Amino acid sequence: MATYQIRVARSGSDGATDSFTVELDHRMTVLDALFLIQREQDPTLSFRCSCRVGMCGTCAMRINWQPRLACQTRVLTLKADTIVVEPLAHLPVMKDLVVAMDPFFEQWKRVKPALHPDPKRDPKKLAVVPPTSEFGKQAQGKRDCITCGACYAACGIVGSNEEYLGPAAINKAMLRLMDPRDNAVDERLEELNDENGVWRCHTQFNCVAACPKGINLTDSIMKMKRSLLFPKKFHDKRNFVDNP
Ligand code: SF4
Ligand code: FES
Repeated sequence: MATYQIRVARSGSDGATDSFTVELDHRMTVLDALFLIQREQDPTLSFRCSCRVGMCGTCAMRINWQPRLACQTRVLTLKADTIVVEPLAHLPVMKDLVVAMDPFFEQWKRVKPALHPDPKRDPKKLAVVPPTSEFGKQAQGKRDCITCGACYAACGIVGSNEEYLGPAAINKAMLRLMDPRDNAVDERLEELNDENGVWRCHTQFNCVAACPKGINLTDSIMKMKRSLLFPKKFHDKRNFVDNP
């Protein structure tokens, strides 16, 4: 056990913080610390969580100035006696550490994240996508997004232009564009090629550093920039299946 000071931002942008002294085992996470504070010191402290195992993305917050998942951040790994906990940047604060995710999902919706199958395709016929195909290979490392918003909060471009699509939405669009079952090509390309689409990215890699799922978002954005020069390949989806 060790003693930690947990400095938590309280409601809004006026910079108000509250400090709590807590005894924590080194295996405990920042989320455990917040629960302890809520249980024993301040029941009004607000934060969001659900799965507690790094799967739902709801507990994303800034911990010592980095966007992280509170349930996956052990206090020991922070190597500090004082832990500063703040809401994610670039999103409106609802209360304490709870942010409204609307701006993130507004951009997410622009790229049509759901599968839009080709109506001409026989729904009974399974699309076989070999894992060695380009889509198969890209999907391996990039389909695990849990929409936590950490990349959005870390992105310097989002910070100066809230109309920018943001890294997660672009990564999602890339996967759908390569997916041989999907057909909403033109709509997605239009959003990506928009003045607030991929070209806004300045390749700062902040999103890559922030993503708790290890998704190489900058790679997806760079691939989209290159691919927009040859949009026809997205209409012939076999390119992503037959030519590994
Ligand atoms: S890409 Fe990573 S950081 Fe961004 S929303 Fe998805 S899981 Fe979170
Ligand atoms: S509580 Fe679900 S990712 Fe942390």
